[in-house]
Amino acid sequence: MPKTAQLILDGQTIELPIVEGTEGEKALDISKLRSQTGYITLDNGYVNTGSCQSAITFIDGEKGILRYRGFPIEELAERSTFLEVAYLLIRGELPTKPQLDNFLGEISRHTMVHEDVKRFYTGFPKKAHPMAVCAAVIGALSTFYQDSLDPRNEASVEFVTYRLMAKIPTIASYSYKHSIGQPFMYPDNSLDYYSNFLRMMFATPCEDYAVDPVISQVLDLLLILHADHEQNCSTSTVRMVGSAQTNLFASIAAGVSALWGRLHGGANQKVIEMLDRIEQEGDSGRTFLDRCKDRGDTTRLMGFGHRVYKNFDPRAKIIKDACYRVLNHLGIRSRQLEIAVELEERALEDSYFIERRLYPNVDFYSGIIYKAIGIPVNMFTVLFAIGRLPGWISQWIEMQRDGEARIGRPRQIYVGSQKRSYVPLEER
Ligand code: CMC
Repeated sequence: MPKTAQLILDGQTIELPIVEGTEGEKALDISKLRSQTGYITLDNGYVNTGSCQSAITFIDGEKGILRYRGFPIEELAERSTFLEVAYLLIRGELPTKPQLDNFLGEISRHTMVHEDVKRFYTGFPKKAHPMAVCAAVIGALSTFYQDSLDPRNEASVEFVTYRLMAKIPTIASYSYKHSIGQPFMYPDNSLDYYSNFLRMMFATPCEDYAVDPVISQVLDLLLILHADHEQNCSTSTVRMVGSAQTNLFASIAAGVSALWGRLHGGANQKVIEMLDRIEQEGDSGRTFLDRCKDRGDTTRLMGFGHRVYKNFDPRAKIIKDACYRVLNHLGIRSRQLEIAVELEERALEDSYFIERRLYPNVDFYSGIIYKAIGIPVNMFTVLFAIGRLPGWISQWIEMQRDGEARIGRPRQIYVGSQKRSYVPLEER
């Protein structure tokens, strides 16, 4: 007998089916509520609303657990690689050696962008934010692959998947090269994914460029940690756009735009700007924390707090350790890391943060690593986007294949004027 919950509304008893996930998460299925009662549910920011059933990523925010396709993030971070994780997310299982070789081969074959794409960059102001440039160029890719835009055609989706995964590092590095006036570097397909990206970012045609394997390893780790995070703002955006059966390029471009926001992926840039400001003001962090707690002040401790995690974000722990490793390797003493650690310690002992269960999130320490390896601050969120791409793609594909999926179209409670008559301009 399927479990139900009873809702008593206007004297009528409504049976709401209970849906239970494989990890014991429970939901009330309200899909027939409006047709049965005329009521809708109201849930600002979707705090209590499940938008889909998904088999990709599991988070237990109370316990600080994150798993991709069942595998704990800690194990993947230690033992896997970003492209293997991308395969796992998109295809559902870890690849065999031939499957992985084929996947890597397909991705490395398509790293170049059409020569005409390069001309777009010259139209953007040099100071353009690279997230804006990336969103625009990714959206524009759909104009080059017009025969592959049908979201229900599996072969087209596979074709676009390889091209997006292959080209995003090229597109991202070109946005940086354009901003500093250096020539674009063609990809070098003999290099691995992250080394190729670093070379396209930092090499010039005039000099040899050697990739530091420790740096490329840490980049790989960061990409793994960012690869998926279930129904966050950008992923929900990608699903929402795709639910109208919009093509994958356009859906991903929308995801990049959503990620840019400072409450989402844009927080990694804001954390470094915050740490810079605290350093310049010579503050130990105490005054800054007071501002964050002040109701009359809109300042927030960037890189802290999470909608789902009410405990340590497991990604933040791994990134903090990696941060020490990279700084040690590079022989850098970072005042920003010291400030971040002080802020974290103070916040975790402060009743304001304790009561609200605010902990460091994925963005708190990542920027310190990016900065140490020479990534410009406005490229931090682009790195997040490169990491999140396989998550977006896998969620979009899952939705397209879900027989229950419908166009995303929330309702509202209208609170505007009631019916009134038009007043001609001269009578107003
Ligand atoms: N600093 C100070 N106060 C905070 C913070 C913060 N970072 N985060 C939440 N609060 C307070 C908030 O003011 C509210 O207080 P009160 O109950 O007194 O009104 C309470 O905690 C609950 O916050 P909320 O804004 O209702 O929580 P939310 O789930 O809607 O927002 C969040 C989650 C991540 C947007 C928020 O914690 C935040 O703005 N954090 C800073 C930005 C950030 O680091 N974003 C990255 C998120 S993780 C990676 C990603 O998704 O990209």
